[in-house]
Amino acid sequence: MHDILPEDQKYFRKIVEVAEGILHFYGFGKIDIPVLEQTELFSKGTGLSTDIVQKQMYNLKTKGDDLLTLRPEFTPGIVRAYVEHGMVSLPQPIKLYAVGPVFRYETPQAGRFREFNQLDIEIIGEKSPVKDAQLIQIFYNILKELKIKNLMVEVNSIGDSQCRSYYKKLLMSYLRSREHSVCGDCRRRMKENSLRFLDCKEEKCQPIKAQAPQIIDHLCEECHSHFKEVLEFLDEIEVPYRLNPYLVRGLDYYTKTVFEIFKEPESKGETAPIALAGGGRYDGLVKLLGGKDAPACGGAAGIERIVYLMKTEEEKKQKEVSLQGSQVFLAQLGDLAKRRSLKLLEEFRKARIDVAESFGRDSLRAQLGKANNMKTLYTLILGQREALEGTVIIKDMVSGRQETVKMEKAVEQIKKKLKK
Ligand code: HAM
Repeated sequence: MHDILPEDQKYFRKIVEVAEGILHFYGFGKIDIPVLEQTELFSKGTGLSTDIVQKQMYNLKTKGDDLLTLRPEFTPGIVRAYVEHGMVSLPQPIKLYAVGPVFRYETPQAGRFREFNQLDIEIIGEKSPVKDAQLIQIFYNILKELKIKNLMVEVNSIGDSQCRSYYKKLLMSYLRSREHSVCGDCRRRMKENSLRFLDCKEEKCQPIKAQAPQIIDHLCEECHSHFKEVLEFLDEIEVPYRLNPYLVRGLDYYTKTVFEIFKEPESKGETAPIALAGGGRYDGLVKLLGGKDAPACGGAAGIERIVYLMKTEEEKKQKEVSLQGSQVFLAQLGDLAKRRSLKLLEEFRKARIDVAESFGRDSLRAQLGKANNMKTLYTLILGQREALEGTVIIKDMVSGRQETVKMEKAVEQIKKKLKK
């Protein structure tokens, strides 16, 4: 669990402001629901076989022996409110959104908290595939408006209770003969919810996954045409997406469409895609929680993950701007040169001359390219030879002319040149 410090509040505010602008346009109303609900709501709604219910809920017993749980997600609570307030008798669909903290007992790691905030969006009382596509579009547009780059939508259909149970049997018989080759988690999943096998990231399960029957090939006619229409709508509204036959999501209530939106890595330094939002259709949940049969779909975005990306992007920009202010760039090649560069840089700092550098493992060419992009006036070049000789090359980036000077004269020379 974490604090949100004053300097981070602006990002949270911005996300809500952008989301509300879009959601109000589409006719969504805000709902606030309690942070504490009856434990049964989640064991029934989120589902007994899910990691959330099995391992991640913060449960407590009140003095009056009530079993309560800190909400691990919004969906069951919002459906409870829909049923409890008789929203079924209002014109359908009911479009709701909620913002606030949810709680999951997880192993904390980068981007994974035990208390985190979600922006949750639900459309209840409409079965048309247009809504599935519109929901994805809304999340996509919110993220785009927040200037998150490299977004990728993944979609799949996991069918309805009928075609899925047929598929599960097929998958089980496929898995049974390979039980000894799958990981321990998957052996457990086979007993509880074999679909989750498709989610497994363990290396030893990957070749078995690749050969497994795919649910998309076993959808009933209705689910098949529903999914086809969702994809057609996505094409129409120009939301780029990728079919992922292994996307099943870790919650029990989904039927038909499921989706996730990721930020894909932009460079080699960023390794894994970051899941920013996820959701899908859940046509059976309202009835399961005591309401009349009402189809629905929804999704949620993780606000902390979006904040993290907004901050990283801002830091990147600030760095570029501060580098752009420099008139001098220091390029170096080789270990000795790097060490000498650090010393030289310090001399420039003392003389209050801004010097940009890129002390990574970039080639000399890449460093000169950077200096060029930043439109610096002079580049100091320090290679192995210069490092040994105690010299440095000053390259005039406008004329291309180069001169070699003693290292201890470099600051003085640059000062002179900048004054001209
Ligand atoms: P979920 O995929 O469990 O879906 O969570 C949605 C988003 O919350 C994720 O995509 C991720 O960005 C963020 N998130 C999840 N766990 C963490 C964590 N430990 N720390 C930080 N961020 C996290 C749901 O919650 C469903 N209720 C979505 C839904 C609504 N489906 C239908 N309606």
